[in-house]
Amino acid sequence: MPVTLSDFEIAAAKQLSPDVLAYLEGGAEAEHSVAENRAAFARIGLLPKLLAPCAGGHTRTRILGAPAAHPIIVAPMAFQHLFHPDGETATAMAAAAQDATMVLSCQTSTPPEDIATIPGRRWFQLYMQGDHDTTMILVDRAVTCGAQALVVTLDAPINGLRDREVAAGFELPADVRPVMLDVLPQPPRPQLQEGQSVVFDGLMVFAPTWADLLQLIKDSPVPVIIKGCLRPADAMRLIEAGVQGIIVSNHGGRVLDTLPAPITRLAGVVNAVAGTAPVYLDGGVRRGSDVFKALALGAEAVLVGRPVMHGLTVSGARGASQVLRRLRDELEVTMALCGCATIADITPDAVTDFSGTGS
Ligand code: FNR
Ligand code: LAC
Repeated sequence: MPVTLSDFEIAAAKQLSPDVLAYLEGGAEAEHSVAENRAAFARIGLLPKLLAPCAGGHTRTRILGAPAAHPIIVAPMAFQHLFHPDGETATAMAAAAQDATMVLSCQTSTPPEDIATIPGRRWFQLYMQGDHDTTMILVDRAVTCGAQALVVTLDAPINGLRDREVAAGFELPADVRPVMLDVLPQPPRPQLQEGQSVVFDGLMVFAPTWADLLQLIKDSPVPVIIKGCLRPADAMRLIEAGVQGIIVSNHGGRVLDTLPAPITRLAGVVNAVAGTAPVYLDGGVRRGSDVFKALALGAEAVLVGRPVMHGLTVSGARGASQVLRRLRDELEVTMALCGCATIADITPDAVTDFSGTGS
């Protein structure tokens, strides 16, 4: 029986076909960022406070103002039917069972109506479409199905180069579709002239702009959070534009290689934002102590990606729930051993440099 997130990772790797495994685990190009996301956590040490009273402690917190049992969120991940026949439905049930907010991917393979009746807090991850009206079709559908916030991913205006995935010959099977995107009106594709660039004259023509984001913030009925920010200056400009949260992320190392590990950028963004909006983090969280380290460096919560899919692969809703439960348990043990009774007690002095050996 798998217990730790590492156990689930190993068990899932045995179950998935090589091409789907390459899609799940793979990152951009040489996958330096994928490895660094985890290694960077191992370079941070913990500094316990002795004899701190912890009886009656808890992990309760607030996420976007709403009470939450703990600061762990399920990251948006596309095409979850690749990993288990119950797909996003199982993940939503696991998140509900563990009182975790779930972010539903824009590329969900389950219609949002199918999970709308499952209890729990859900946010919707949005890729802005080339045109505002089309974007708003997605937003209206997601909000009607219960999304309480939009997570607008800005770090992937085009797909990155995923060498491992290409080498493994990964292709989406016919029965796994981005069901929300499939039904959108398709804009006419620009006809490329001789000498024009596929990237700049083709794909980037549809990439979102600041004007698009401002329009979205104006028209969104729910708070807008940005995913994929690594620069303090971007974070400040986004907050000024009306964004209500920032996720420091390099997309799990899946889009552009050698982006630094988000945990190394977190404090800079937190400083810049200076309490005007919550800052979250994702990428490489595999232990409760990683959650603790992110909170110590100023994150209000973390998002967890691949481990939840490992749990889903191994045993559907139950496996995904066990992964979330294990992270919660590890966070509690870390807090107790560090002398932190509450989330508010997890302050920057709880962490220090550590010449870890990497993960
Ligand atoms: C993702 N991620 C992602 N992000 C996003 O904004 N929209 C999406 O549709 C997806 N899809 C997706 C699929 C799969 C299979 C994975 C593994 C990841 C990125 C995800 O939200 C998150 O940023 C990273 O996965 C976090 O890193 P860890 O926890 O996987 O290390
Ligand atoms: C990914 C895209 C879908 O990371 O965001 O696979």
